Amino acid sequence: MDEIGLFEAIQTARALRRFKPEPVADELITRILDAAIRAPSASNTQNWAFVVVKDADQRRRVAEIYRRAFTLMTAMYRERKPAPHQSAAGYKRMMSAAEHLANHLHEVPVLIIAGLMIASAGFKPPAEDAQRVASARAIISGASIYPAVQNMLLACRALGLGSVLTTIHAYYNDDVRAALGLPPEFVTYAMLPIGYPQPGFGHGPVKRRPLSEVACLDRWGNSWRA
Ligand SMILES: Cc1cc2nc3c(=O)[nH]c(=O)nc-3n(C[C@H](O)[C@H](O)[C@H](O)COP(=O)(O)O)c2cc1C
Repeated sequence: MDEIGLFEAIQTARALRRFKPEPVADELITRILDAAIRAPSASNTQNWAFVVVKDADQRRRVAEIYRRAFTLMTAMYRERKPAPHQSAAGYKRMMSAAEHLANHLHEVPVLIIAGLMIASAGFKPPAEDAQRVASARAIISGASIYPAVQNMLLACRALGLGSVLTTIHAYYNDDVRAALGLPPEFVTYAMLPIGYPQPGFGHGPVKRRPLSEVACLDRWGNSWRA
């Protein structure tokens, strides 16, 4: 297939959650993984690892954990209202697609689990810095894997494959670790279901809040004029 330009990929890589069961060739998975490992990581540590799950029994195990996490999440979010920019109908559509994914994850041909090998930090900050270091670490923790994840999402888009960044399996990270035989220091940050999109549920324009609402020039409140 013809590849598309970077900006077209960015503008059309919307979250896809309905897939055909058709398999995905290993060479395409390799290209997706190769895109992942081109990403930046803190101090260029590259302490990432990716588990490609293709085996039907393994996919069923991961899907069972994901379904449990989805049940927990829907219970937690029961009272949650759509964000101000979201229409009630759009929010409902998203949640019903998310539910469809949770119920059909075992049928998706490829799942990629992305995570980091987290060694315990040898450095102990001075007492007066402990709090700031701990909160910065919590903020920064995913920063060495999510750029790789976004590269995979864009690579999928370029190859005509659908995907969506998912994270709720993390509620049961220990179970994922056990199901996949992951080492204790491996923390999973994302799970990407990958497959060919079902007809009628393919790529298309990504809709977002306008730049004028979210970008400023020089100081807060001075909207960026696009
Ligand atoms: C940090 C993060 C966590 C997410 N976790 C999940 C998830 O667990 N399950 C899911 O179906 N979608 C998940 N998503 C996908 C978002 O719902 C989706 O990217 C967003 O609704 C935008 O969708 P769109 O690109 O189709 O507009 C997650 C996205 C992000 C950035």
